[in-house]
Amino acid sequence: MTGRLSDSYFDDMYAASPDPWQLAERWYEARKYAITMAMLPRRRFRHAFEPGCSVGVLTEMLSQRCDRVTATDVARVALESARKRLSHGDRFDGVTLLQSSLDTPWPADVDLVVLSEVGYYLDAPSLRAVLARECPRLPRGATLIAAHWRHRVDDYPLTGDETTDIVAHTPGLHLQARYLDDDVVIGLFSVGATPSVAASTEIPGAFNPPEDH
Ligand SMILES: C[S@@+](CC[C@H](N)C(=O)[O-])C[C@H]1O[C@@H](n2cnc3c(N)ncnc32)[C@H](O)[C@@H]1O
Repeated sequence: MTGRLSDSYFDDMYAASPDPWQLAERWYEARKYAITMAMLPRRRFRHAFEPGCSVGVLTEMLSQRCDRVTATDVARVALESARKRLSHGDRFDGVTLLQSSLDTPWPADVDLVVLSEVGYYLDAPSLRAVLARECPRLPRGATLIAAHWRHRVDDYPLTGDETTDIVAHTPGLHLQARYLDDDVVIGLFSVGATPSVAASTEIPGAFNPPEDH
């Protein structure tokens, strides 16, 4: 059985507030989302998987870069808010919202996995086991990005740094880029070694891997 924070822990948070982390309002979150989106190495992705989507702020951004997005959360109330947020204009096209947990099997055919503030709700053995089971099913060249708060939260099984470290040690994942400040760590990983953005878009002079100086 997976060791993780209980669903009722999050249900209680959403019962107390519709957006417990103020994801739609805080400058901290808007900036973190902008960094996360800017780090993605491709202009477009076929199918993104975003477990722990909460009220859908990042889901909405992903929907503009991805043909399809499968976004999940354990909290039904959060998914209802996400549904409302995405139901304007054409933003819902291609987005599937599901109530499920990160440790259940991931959707097939995914070329982008976004673990944003969700990995540390599992304990270390469980997170390792999920990544070891699911990452080998991702296609070669797929992207996984992991963004996590670095300050300790007593209730959470892991810190953001511990979470990132577990992701980084997943067999088959290669670190492509890393952003770090006092608050957040964001690791960008590829499944297998992949060309740099400049090399893959054929910018003259870009070699892969970069030549040593
Ligand atoms: C801090 S919010 C993160 C929202 C969004 N990913 C972001 O970065 O802004 C964490 C969300 O993860 C959900 N969550 C917690 N444990 C989960 C799990 N095991 N599987 C999927 N979602 C989970 C919570 O219900 C909550 O909505």
